[in-house]
Amino acid sequence: MRAPVLLLLLLLLLAGAVPHSTKRSLVPPRVNVSLDEAPAARWLPALRLFDPGLVRSAVALIVGDRVPKWVLEVIGKLVAEMESFLPQPFTEEIRGISNFLNLSLTDGLLINLAYESSAFCTSVVAQDSRGHIYHGRNLDYPFGELLRKLTVDVQFLKNGQIAFTGTTFIGYVGLWTGQSPHKFTVSGDERDKGWWWENAIAALFQGHSPVSWLIRTTLSESEDFETSVYKLAKTPLIADVYYIVGGTAPREGVVITRNRGGPADIWPLDPLNGAWFRVETNYDHWKPVPKTDDRRTPAIRALNATGQANLSLEALFQVLSVVPVYNNFTVYTTVMSAATPDKYMTRIRNLS
Ligand SMILES: *[C@@H]1O[C@H](CO)[C@@H](O)[C@H](O)[C@H]1NC(C)=O
Ligand SMILES: *[C@@H]1O[C@H](CO)[C@@H](O)[C@H](O)[C@H]1NC(C)=O
Ligand SMILES: *[C@@H]1O[C@H](CO)[C@@H](O)[C@H](O)[C@H]1NC(C)=O
Ligand SMILES: *[C@@H]1O[C@H](CO)[C@@H](O)[C@H](O)[C@H]1NC(C)=O
Ligand SMILES: *[C@@H]1O[C@H](CO)[C@@H](O)[C@H](O)[C@H]1NC(C)=O
Repeated sequence: MRAPVLLLLLLLLLAGAVPHSTKRSLVPPRVNVSLDEAPAARWLPALRLFDPGLVRSAVALIVGDRVPKWVLEVIGKLVAEMESFLPQPFTEEIRGISNFLNLSLTDGLLINLAYESSAFCTSVVAQDSRGHIYHGRNLDYPFGELLRKLTVDVQFLKNGQIAFTGTTFIGYVGLWTGQSPHKFTVSGDERDKGWWWENAIAALFQGHSPVSWLIRTTLSESEDFETSVYKLAKTPLIADVYYIVGGTAPREGVVITRNRGGPADIWPLDPLNGAWFRVETNYDHWKPVPKTDDRRTPAIRALNATGQANLSLEALFQVLSVVPVYNNFTVYTTVMSAATPDKYMTRIRNLS
């Protein structure tokens, strides 16, 4: 009996030596939001599944920590005027959510803007040897202890059918991660160029879109991979960002580096020349990554080790579980492939 025990111990030790996470993961709740309902009412069935006190404390903590005082004052004074030019249906949805939670519209709007800044993330789009496209992302953010409890997969319904799916925090109407079935998948990674709030508030007043609202609008409106890339590349935004897009056909994968006004760079898959994946973290791909935050090299090494022939959603999830691609700030991991929309999978990470 001793040999198998020793073997087991050895295997455990070896597993420990590979820097994969051993912490628990959890399937988030999956909720429906019906776009056939009025915007102010459509989130309420999903909200009722959560403790309103928990959602309110997340809002208080994150707005208190993230939003500079002058922004609070400006938005507080101008919130009535802002309603007329902020894009719909987002503003009405935020009003409905805020009313339900007994929050002011100002706090509701600010929490929706606060999540737009300071997210560190890793996204990968890749093509296997048979031409299938896979897309995965880690969303890394402070306040994970609260946000892990608010993470949901949302099915947006039109005429009772799933029009698109996304992952978000309850109370947050934009999407950083989503899928339009049989069409395309999108994720967003922050691209911080400094002076975030100053630039974002100025651009908001010029009618530019928050970056996560554009992801949702694109999922809702774009007919295919190509038109989604065009929309994500061209629409004026309140902040710089990286958009990662995957399609359904070979070579349909791209990293779009965005300036507020338009595209800074378009970086497509090039599998015929060996570029069967693209990795984007939070730095321009044509520049070196800072040594203090290199999640890019470990992700590339893990993809190289997987090999194009062995790529799958499961393999991509493993890549996104390699430290430090996976780290203490990772709130959730999603893997998806627009051609097989039922396989959309999110796991809440870092549960102790
Ligand atoms: C909001 O306030 C109203 C009136 O004070 C109260 O009846 C209701 O339960 C509150 N809702 C929540 C979600 O706390
Ligand atoms: C969500 O909507 C889908 C599609 O209409 C339906 O099949 C499913 O039962 C709904 N889920 C819930 C929890 O209502
Ligand atoms: C990954 O593989 C490519 C192609 O073989 C190679 O050029 C690159 O250096 C490898 N990168 C890492 C981090 O292993
Ligand atoms: C990848 O797949 C090939 C062929 O199926 C297999 O021989 C190889 O062991 C696999 N590599 C890894 C790292 O799993
Ligand atoms: C992550 O958290 C663990 C404790 O849960 C700590 O030991 C470790 O040093 C942290 N890692 C980093 C990179 O901060």
